[in-house]
Amino acid sequence: MSEIVYLNGKFVPYEEALVPVEDRGNLFADGVYEVIRFYSGQPFLMKAHMERLERSAREIRLPAIDIEALTEAGLETVRRNGIGDGTLYIQVTRGPAPRNHAFPPNPRPTVFMIARSLARPGKELRGQGVTCITVPDIRWLRCDIKSIGLLPNVLGKQQAREAGAFEALFVRDGVVTEGTSTNAFAVREGRIVTYPEDEHILPGITRRLILAIARREGIEVVEEALNVDELDRVDELLISSTTIEVMPVVSVDGRPVGGGRPGPVARKLQEQYDRLVEKVASGESIDDLI
Ligand SMILES: Cc1ncc(COP(=O)(O)O)c(C=O)c1O
Repeated sequence: MSEIVYLNGKFVPYEEALVPVEDRGNLFADGVYEVIRFYSGQPFLMKAHMERLERSAREIRLPAIDIEALTEAGLETVRRNGIGDGTLYIQVTRGPAPRNHAFPPNPRPTVFMIARSLARPGKELRGQGVTCITVPDIRWLRCDIKSIGLLPNVLGKQQAREAGAFEALFVRDGVVTEGTSTNAFAVREGRIVTYPEDEHILPGITRRLILAIARREGIEVVEEALNVDELDRVDELLISSTTIEVMPVVSVDGRPVGGGRPGPVARKLQEQYDRLVEKVASGESIDDLI
């Protein structure tokens, strides 16, 4: 059975979901996106993702989008594709227009959504942790916008893959900002330290949930920059995202972190995260947690 894609108000077979070559997404990466997790067909923190999409769209001055209608269409895309554990990708661009940097006079945004199955990260990987490298953060100064312009992220992730690592951590002015598709957290003297929400990082929805879980568990959270030289001395390091959830990091640039094994804070966060996944999978909402 062909996949069903949502494109500009219609549900169409994948092969028929075509966009004009001069779509500004193609020409200028002039668009924004979201990735939303589903467990057993149920959305995980969809409200927060849709609010972030609305903000990203506003920040790049796209015409207003109807978040309620898009949410309904997103849920329908997931249903029509029979997705259990998976993701919903939503992209909104400034649409097709003859190539010209300035906005077209009457933009007609292109909106599409694809729902795909994606299993949760394996127990083994979550138990063992992953390795990272560091790369210079060569991105622009609006990393808080979930822009489809991801070339530095793509190059960083590829460099990680070629080094046999799972993720690349961006370093700007000597501090770790975030990963190419993840937020990063250190554990130091029992506290969680993570880069503050500003224009240098994407305000991760998973990051927000992790901080909420930590505070609920009585773990102190410090939102401040982490020096890359300090990585050798932290007790634990973690990365997070909608797709990889909470993942311990056991080495960076070939040097072990926190004794080279996942630590107790990572385990506790993973346990609590699992509980929330079960809740959502059974039809409960956890939207009020963040
Ligand atoms: C650069 C970047 N940082 C962080 C994240 C994690 O964000 P979220 O937890 O909302 O998936 C992502 C997700 O793709 C990302 O691309």
